[in-house]
Amino acid sequence: MRTLRIDYLKHKFGYNHKNLLLNLVLTIFLFGLASKFVFFPSLSPEISPDLEHPFAEKTNADPEPQNPPVFSQVTENQTTLSEQVPQLAPVLEHVFQNEDQVSPSNKKCDYFSGDWVPNPVGPVYTNESCNLIESPQNCLKNGRPDKEFLYWKWAPRDCDLPPFDPYKFLNAMRNKAWALIGDSISRNHVQSLLCMLSTVEQPVLVYHDEEYKSKSWHFPSYNFNISVIWSPFLVEAAIFEDFNGVSSSEVQLYLDKLDSKWKDQFLNFDYIIISCGKWFLKSAIYYENDTILGCHYCNKKNLTELGFNFAYRKALKFVLNFIASSNHKGLIFFRTFTPDHFENGEWFSGGTCNRKAPVTEGKIEMKYLNKMLRDIELEEFGKAAAKASKSGVNLKLVDLALLSLLRPDGHPGPYREFHPFADKGKNAKVQNDCLHWCLPGPIDSWNDILMEMVVNG
Ligand SMILES: *[C@@H]1O[C@H](CO)[C@@H](O)[C@H](O)[C@H]1NC(C)=O
Ligand SMILES: *[C@@H]1O[C@H](CO)[C@@H](O)[C@H](O)[C@H]1NC(C)=O
Ligand SMILES: *[C@@H]1O[C@H](CO)[C@@H](O)[C@H](O)[C@H]1NC(C)=O
Ligand SMILES: *[C@@H]1O[C@H](CO)[C@@H](O)[C@H](O)[C@H]1NC(C)=O
Ligand SMILES: *[C@@H]1O[C@H](CO)[C@@H](O)[C@H](O)[C@H]1NC(C)=O
Repeated sequence: MRTLRIDYLKHKFGYNHKNLLLNLVLTIFLFGLASKFVFFPSLSPEISPDLEHPFAEKTNADPEPQNPPVFSQVTENQTTLSEQVPQLAPVLEHVFQNEDQVSPSNKKCDYFSGDWVPNPVGPVYTNESCNLIESPQNCLKNGRPDKEFLYWKWAPRDCDLPPFDPYKFLNAMRNKAWALIGDSISRNHVQSLLCMLSTVEQPVLVYHDEEYKSKSWHFPSYNFNISVIWSPFLVEAAIFEDFNGVSSSEVQLYLDKLDSKWKDQFLNFDYIIISCGKWFLKSAIYYENDTILGCHYCNKKNLTELGFNFAYRKALKFVLNFIASSNHKGLIFFRTFTPDHFENGEWFSGGTCNRKAPVTEGKIEMKYLNKMLRDIELEEFGKAAAKASKSGVNLKLVDLALLSLLRPDGHPGPYREFHPFADKGKNAKVQNDCLHWCLPGPIDSWNDILMEMVVNG
């Protein structure tokens, strides 16, 4: 990654061995860059090439004496940033099956408070039956040895949640179109949904963009379409990352312009699941009315540090307001972002996630930054929902953050790569992915919930 960056600099600045002065200047510059990378990794907009990613997150582990204030309106207490998941795997609490407690009506069920309960049946698809799992999430194929993470299902406390029924779903969705709009977690999710549906009919890929980040599939027998639209900020953004994810400049974020990638097609979809989140932690320059308001992590540029939370709130407010006052006649789900589970470091500093089972509620705390994102989401959703109900727009919250928090065992970890330890040995240092989810895996349960919300309201 760093080599790529240096190549880029060589290219850009016409690096030339004969020019000693330039060489010296460049050396100093590169040294500065290298120390910035070592000491202030999260200041760098650079991200890991293969982990597409929303990972640029600050931790208390970074020594950052000269850091600008990162959060507006928040008093930062460094010790609260250190909230880590507990070091010892908690004893699994085998919750009683809900049979006795099933409420007569699902009408008022809170699908989002519950427990992960053992599910001996296991997933409805496998890495063999579904060919739509992208390699970094195909944990079994990549050699993940433990399989217990496959045998759990989400059980809301006050109602019964039947497993996703692909026949019923496809029948209900004849002549309909769905879109999942957001970052790579939305792409992760769409694969899960497609794999479950592919047990009934194999979808046909009918569209993809150049980088295969946005795609559409068609189920011929049902005239049912699913699209995933890559729009990690939902608002307009100029992202200066090359194909390898190497970034050459801060993101330019237009907080008062919607990303046309989804906005232009918005009314064409009957069902939409929209979300965003972690990309807002990246270093960025914020615009409104085409005027610079300030930035986040760009202290070299003489701009006001506004904090990512400023931008997240403003962007979400704008997006949700657009939705709430639109003419959309279908159903729109706002999905809360889902937390990562890097332990003992972050993605760039050797963080790992090698748990083998879910944790019970109360045994794991949401990291400080994640909690900030979540609080903004809930507040802005609340305001938008009030507006939507007045204007007749069907906007619902799909709050998957807490149930996802309880699944630190569901990430690829080192198994985002094919047999990562095969030739490097057991103790090899391998970059972990503790943000995306293995497939099959915990996010298959998201579809159980969505189906209930679609079918039973
Ligand atoms: C953060 O809060 C804790 C508990 O309130 C306190 O003990 C600690 O000194 C605070 N740390 C900083 C850096 O303010
Ligand atoms: C599926 O995973 C198993 C390991 O669990 C592996 O042996 C097999 O080759 C994989 N198959 C495919 C098609 O990925
Ligand atoms: C699904 O997409 C196909 C094109 O691939 C289109 O012909 C069809 O009308 C779409 N169906 C729906 C319900 O949007
Ligand atoms: C942007 O334009 C709107 C409407 O003209 C105005 O209310 C707002 O103050 C402007 N914002 C900035 C930062 O100039
Ligand atoms: C930074 O901004 C301040 C206030 O706008 C200005 O006085 C100063 O000259 C700027 N410095 C640079 C290096 O542009």
